[in-house]
Amino acid sequence: MTTEIPKDITFNTQLRGHDFTFTTTWGLFSPKAIDAGTRLLIEQLKINSSDTCLDLGCGYGAVGIAIAKCFQPANVYMVDKDFVAVDYARKNVEQNQLPNCKVLLSNGFSHLSDIQFDVIASNLPAKTGNELLQIFFTEAKHHLKPNGRLYVVTISGLRQFIKRNFLDIFGNYRKVKQRNTHTVAMAMV
Ligand SMILES: C[S@@+](CC[C@H](N)C(=O)[O-])C[C@H]1O[C@@H](n2cnc3c(N)ncnc32)[C@H](O)[C@@H]1O
Repeated sequence: MTTEIPKDITFNTQLRGHDFTFTTTWGLFSPKAIDAGTRLLIEQLKINSSDTCLDLGCGYGAVGIAIAKCFQPANVYMVDKDFVAVDYARKNVEQNQLPNCKVLLSNGFSHLSDIQFDVIASNLPAKTGNELLQIFFTEAKHHLKPNGRLYVVTISGLRQFIKRNFLDIFGNYRKVKQRNTHTVAMAMV
């Protein structure tokens, strides 16, 4: 006899002092709890309530949903190329009651054609290869308003790659926070 594994996982958590409920499913990134890198990124973001923000590669929505709740009424877009991630991100926006979030199925910036952001934040899909990350950075630069900021978190082993590429593309790089496993970096337009 086999035991049936539930398809959905629901957990409660606190981010920046606020309570959240997330529903996720197997196959999405970090389905059982908020990833340590994601949490570090959320803790380090500096955002104003009037900002328009993007969670690039939103998964089930942790970063965008945290921004939308902690910096209300900031206007938050969330995109992912995975329709399962988009479905769950939408569920989580609804269950956390955040009318200031919009979730879109998009390959990087492909469905964000003319939107300009004050802040773009991403727990980068590092395993998909350097080329995609370089495309993300170049497109992020074109989608940021003057003084706009790109925040990324990666495993710390990638930090020299991030530094090199931020300096090439943006002409600047700031290490915002480094922990053993993860580093948050920022570039400005
Ligand atoms: C490291 S996970 C982070 C997920 C979520 N932001 C979090 O922190 O829990 C990276 C996400 O990027 C998405 N992704 C990968 N390539 C993408 C692309 N070309 N366009 C949009 N999203 C992409 C993946 O589907 C995945 O959900």
